[in-house]
Amino acid sequence: MKKIKVAVAGLGFIGPAHIEALRRLPNIEVVAISDIDEDTAKAKAIDLGIERYTSDFDKLLNEDIDAVHICTPNNLHFTMAKKALEAGKHVICEKPLATTVEEAEELVALAGEKQLINAVHFNIRYYPLVRQMKVMREMGELGEVYSVIGSYLQDWLFYNTDYNWRLEPEQSGTSRAIADVGSHLIDLLEYITGLEIVEVMADFNTIHKIRKKPLKPIETYSGKMLKPEDYEDVPIKTEDHANVLLRFNNGNRGVVTVSQVAAGRKNRLSLEIAGARQTFSWNSEQPNDLWIGKRDDYNGALMRDPSLFDEKSRSLISFPGGHNEGFPDTSKQLFKEVYAAIAKGDASNPVYPTFKDGLRELILCERIIESHKMQAWVRV
Ligand SMILES: NC(=O)c1ccc[n+]([C@@H]2O[C@H](COP(=O)([O-])OP(=O)(O)OC[C@H]3O[C@@H](n4cnc5c(N)ncnc54)[C@H](O)[C@@H]3O)[C@@H](O)[C@H]2O)c1
Repeated sequence: MKKIKVAVAGLGFIGPAHIEALRRLPNIEVVAISDIDEDTAKAKAIDLGIERYTSDFDKLLNEDIDAVHICTPNNLHFTMAKKALEAGKHVICEKPLATTVEEAEELVALAGEKQLINAVHFNIRYYPLVRQMKVMREMGELGEVYSVIGSYLQDWLFYNTDYNWRLEPEQSGTSRAIADVGSHLIDLLEYITGLEIVEVMADFNTIHKIRKKPLKPIETYSGKMLKPEDYEDVPIKTEDHANVLLRFNNGNRGVVTVSQVAAGRKNRLSLEIAGARQTFSWNSEQPNDLWIGKRDDYNGALMRDPSLFDEKSRSLISFPGGHNEGFPDTSKQLFKEVYAAIAKGDASNPVYPTFKDGLRELILCERIIESHKMQAWVRV
């Protein structure tokens, strides 16, 4: 079998997760990696058993590769994706696709012009029950959507001493909670319901207006108590918490709340979609169970089980019912669909999230920020 040769840039948290998922697919070989930090690149190359590594993204593009995964901080996505497309490589980019709508539009146009496969890692779409909800809605089992409630709650920025590049707009962009994780949630709501958000009304809050940034890399302190002189005070300009009211193109309404300071909520995307026939309720921390609410009958529960799924969503399941699948499987399933398109050399009719979906999220995100600033409804 001819293997598709792949490189991955950015080897912090999610880059190695991409590599692990790629290695679970038979027709792919990860041949090279890059990280801005030479020591990280070398250590990860040894750790992951990849021979070729570099700290220079341009050199990575000169490798004998077909596709590149971009897993670096947000402000680098645009320039790296642009260079990779110009070098004739298929691109799988982390979310957000870029930090402005104009950049994302340019990437959509360039990918189209070059006829290259382009994908954004909206991996939460690939929990099998998420696809199943979409398929059930398409088959009319949900009925007209009456209302939507969504939340994405985390606690990794709970303390004012929690610090990361995502807190710096120069690296992360002008929105944090909404752009970083709210984008996954809003993408899912449109994906599952098939509706479009046409107006937004947002209200943000920054709980920790000043955070304490460690003056040395955080690992330096592991096992030690930090002293006041080990930090500098940094004013925070992006939101820890956001509430957004939504109006959909069927005239009905929704609401989402996103927080990165909700103690005990580690990484919980939750949604409840009430339709004219029944209600779906699902969350990413129990991703193998869907609650189905009914008015005139017992409420139901659908477990992730290929024998109970529609054939259109069954393809996202690799193990029988009761053999739970989770976060790492979502990337594997997404890449499976992306690399099927690469193997066929066919960028038409993508089933996976593309740069256009990445652009859509940036448009929604910009309107949400505008709404918060104006404290008013904004049309999308
Ligand atoms: N889809 C998801 O579920 C998911 C989850 C986590 C992160 N992400 C996205 O992935 C991206 C990375 O997030 P992370 O949590 O892995 O961050 P991270 O800080 O853990 O890792 C980023 C890595 O990129 C490296 N880097 C910086 N500049 C670089 C350059 N010019 N070339 C090569 N490498 C460079 C850094 O040294 C670091 O190793 C972000 O855009 C984030 O939004 C997505």
